[in-house]
Amino acid sequence: EDAWIDACAADDIDPEDVIRFDHGGATFAIYRTGDDRYFATDGLCTHEFVHLADGLVMDTVIECPLHNGRFDFTTGEALSPPVCAALRTFPVKVEGGRVYLRAG
Ligand code: FES
Repeated sequence: EDAWIDACAADDIDPEDVIRFDHGGATFAIYRTGDDRYFATDGLCTHEFVHLADGLVMDTVIECPLHNGRFDFTTGEALSPPVCAALRTFPVKVEGGRVYLRAG
């Protein structure tokens, strides 16, 4: 599937924060940076099955709430132990005050 999915309002996410978004049996994390850029990754940490939306956003890094592993959410890259597998990232666009992601 290649369609854009309407995920939330742009203002549903505070600057430098993240929310959980579930769709079609998958769970995603959608991020807003301090300078109002939006990104999306897999919702679950690649270490254990914990929702990254419960973690802490610092600049363009998400810190997992369970063991404090860190990812760059703009690329999905795993930055610090215990995480070593990257997150998948998904295209995001903001239009008319809505955030869309493409999961396909
Ligand atoms: Fe995320 Fe362990 S579950 S670092």
